[in-house]
Amino acid sequence: MNKEYYIVTGANGSIGQAITEALASQGLPIIMACRNIAKSQPVQQRIIDQTGQPDILLLPLDLASLKSITQFSERLAQENFSIKALINNAGVMCKNFGQTADGFEMTVGVNYIGTVFLTQLLLPLMQPGSRIVMTTSLTRYIGKIDTSFFVDTPTSYKRFKAYSRSKLALTLYTARLAQELRPRGIVVNAADPGVVDTDMITMHSWIDPLANLFFRPFISSPHEGATSAICAATLPDSGEVSGEIFRKERHSPIPGSLKDSQQASWLWDETKKIVANRCKETAGQTE
Ligand SMILES: NC(=O)c1ccc[n+]([C@@H]2O[C@H](COP(=O)([O-])OP(=O)(O)OC[C@H]3O[C@@H](n4cnc5c(N)ncnc54)[C@H](OP(=O)(O)O)[C@@H]3O)[C@@H](O)[C@H]2O)c1
Repeated sequence: MNKEYYIVTGANGSIGQAITEALASQGLPIIMACRNIAKSQPVQQRIIDQTGQPDILLLPLDLASLKSITQFSERLAQENFSIKALINNAGVMCKNFGQTADGFEMTVGVNYIGTVFLTQLLLPLMQPGSRIVMTTSLTRYIGKIDTSFFVDTPTSYKRFKAYSRSKLALTLYTARLAQELRPRGIVVNAADPGVVDTDMITMHSWIDPLANLFFRPFISSPHEGATSAICAATLPDSGEVSGEIFRKERHSPIPGSLKDSQQASWLWDETKKIVANRCKETAGQTE
């Protein structure tokens, strides 16, 4: 049987490094899926040196490009990789409006569309017992999803609105995907890191020095923030849990009021259409 790998997207980032270090310390084989290879290579080497786990691969993945996601998953399929866990950790909260290579607004495009696309393309490499982890955030409580979800413009763009709805969307998607994959024995959970001292919470505004002084010392470290994803991906008991949100070792079901809502059904149907269309298009481009 093939060795089963743990994929960590954004493995060079603050929480991503902490997740990768923890998995490597357990002797688990890892694929670091990162968009900037030059920036990620020293991280890969440091973790290999510190943990003594040599089986840490570094592969290019840009979640802002469906072509890059397709190439990543095709490479794993061609090389017969088997996936034990996919930890969808990478994420952005863009200060300004931007677009992915495929024309989606960048924050929703990376955090939701790219992550969902990757997950769908990697499903054939998973088997019963495989685990999928989606990174959510407390901002899901203020997120709102409506028919403008997949279309944003420079004038309507607001970073908190885009970020919070991308994380709410991932949470709703987690609940539906968990139901869909239950017969295949694949578990799907969300991990909530809490509020963590990383670049992600830098506002790039006058408030940063004040926040650094009064706020940052009291929030979680990247290692503490990583615990939720690590528990969802590795704890033996977590293999029985699906459709829930991990907050460190504790987990609770995604509320029915969310997962059975109209917005969840709309999002699920629209996402399926987009993924199916884009799969056809990118298959044509990479041939
Ligand atoms: N920090 C918090 O308080 C907090 C709270 C709740 C949830 N989260 C979530 O936790 C996750 C990790 O965030 P963090 O705080 O560790 O932030 P971070 O240090 O900024 O890490 C983000 C990671 O995502 C990667 N990434 C960004 N765009 C990408 C793309 N297009 N393709 C592939 N990778 C891409 C980054 O790669 P580059 O280095 O190349 O930019 C980096 O490795 C995110 O999903 C975030 O939303 C964070």
